[in-house]
Amino acid sequence: MTRQMTMVGFLQAQNCTNLAMSWRHRDSRTDFMSADFYQEIGRTLERGKFHLGFFDDRLALPDRYGGDHAHAIEHGIRVVKLDPVAVLMAMGMATTHLGLGATCSTTYYEPFHVARQFATVDHLSGGRAAWNVVTSLNEGEAWNMGRDEVAEHDSRYDQADEFMQVVTGHWKSWDADALVVNKQTGLFAHPEKVHRLDHVGENFRSRGPFTVPRTPQGHPVIIQAGQSGRGRRFAGRWAEIIFAGGGPLAVQQRGYKAVKDEIAAAGRNPDQVHLCTLVHTVCAATKSEAEDKMSYIETLPLEIDALSLLSEALNFDFATKAMDEPFSDAEMASIGGIQTMRDRVVQASGKQNPTTRDFITITGRGRPHGAIVGGPKDVADKLEELFVNRGCDGFVVAATHVPGSYADFVDHVVPELQRRGLYHLDYKGKTLRENLGLAVPE
Ligand SMILES: Cc1cc2nc3c(=O)[nH]c(=O)nc-3n(C[C@H](O)[C@H](O)[C@H](O)COP(=O)(O)O)c2cc1C
Repeated sequence: MTRQMTMVGFLQAQNCTNLAMSWRHRDSRTDFMSADFYQEIGRTLERGKFHLGFFDDRLALPDRYGGDHAHAIEHGIRVVKLDPVAVLMAMGMATTHLGLGATCSTTYYEPFHVARQFATVDHLSGGRAAWNVVTSLNEGEAWNMGRDEVAEHDSRYDQADEFMQVVTGHWKSWDADALVVNKQTGLFAHPEKVHRLDHVGENFRSRGPFTVPRTPQGHPVIIQAGQSGRGRRFAGRWAEIIFAGGGPLAVQQRGYKAVKDEIAAAGRNPDQVHLCTLVHTVCAATKSEAEDKMSYIETLPLEIDALSLLSEALNFDFATKAMDEPFSDAEMASIGGIQTMRDRVVQASGKQNPTTRDFITITGRGRPHGAIVGGPKDVADKLEELFVNRGCDGFVVAATHVPGSYADFVDHVVPELQRRGLYHLDYKGKTLRENLGLAVPE
């Protein structure tokens, strides 16, 4: 079978997309606390045959900059964060084939709780659930969730490994044929086909039996986006969809190979894991129309957006630094958030001690940095190049505003990709696994 792209919508149960400026866009809907807001997005993605819509999450708003939330509240910098699993279900009720993904942290929840939430979504959605596994990275999250500090980077992944053993253990603890529900015989389920997990480990204890029978997909699809060495090892072991952060083709090809090698090293089939890379697209019927849209979009981001979001992602207070003051070695080492972002700034600036200005320009945080801007052919050409040359297996499409970004992508780019045979014409099955060609776990 010819290889075709996997398409994921990068969603936020928030007042903005991953770009803080999106709420300021003249075409953004502002009723982000209504179910209909998310349902329209879901219907749009489904019209474009997206495999999955997934909601990101953090357990704190961005208040790392200056140690205060006032700037973020005033400027609407990703401050509203609804519970993504509840929002996911609202979107699921308005769609029939779209996969439904949400983010949940292995650092701050109990595995039993997460296993039950996503198993429930899988049942209620007829087998469309996916869980984006994150380890969480900044202090605001720790303080909201009863901890004094963020645990060390690699140890969070060690804990996440154990978390996954518990979650997947519970998910498999009802045999697929355990449930009977026979009113005549009075047998509800076969007792010998429901097993207790009895997990006692370094970080977690969970006895079972689990309270949700085997789900339509066998278990929900697992997503992960670790970029560091340890993160990739974790993803190689567990993930069925992997998100990558984008960048030039050569960088993506290296990352693609490294991730696929990790999957093989973990004894799994690399073809059974979809690596999707982050893209911002600004598209229209013609290139010049798209360029006009982009010119307007570029007027929307504020410098404070970048400073606040950098402080959040790197868990470092950028208010302590002047714009052109180099970071000291100790400050660089103290960055405990997305370390690959820090390393990219060192590499691209050619400086061991970059400045705040370097961080802002190189990461493009808060801006549609490196957005693909164009008409159907321009955008499809770029996506085709990344896909065909094995920079990725598909895309996590991020929006400059909602629902307009997705409507533009679906109306202008999807038909062009389909015409080229790069993207499916319709869903192949009912469940997310069927649509991704993923095997049902044993
Ligand atoms: C497309 C994409 C989506 C992500 N979504 C989230 C998220 O919702 N919540 C979160 O805490 N981290 C999110 N991350 C960050 C990753 O989970 C991870 O922490 C990051 O890529 C750094 O990798 P590392 O943890 O291996 O250092 C996302 C990353 C990417 C590329």
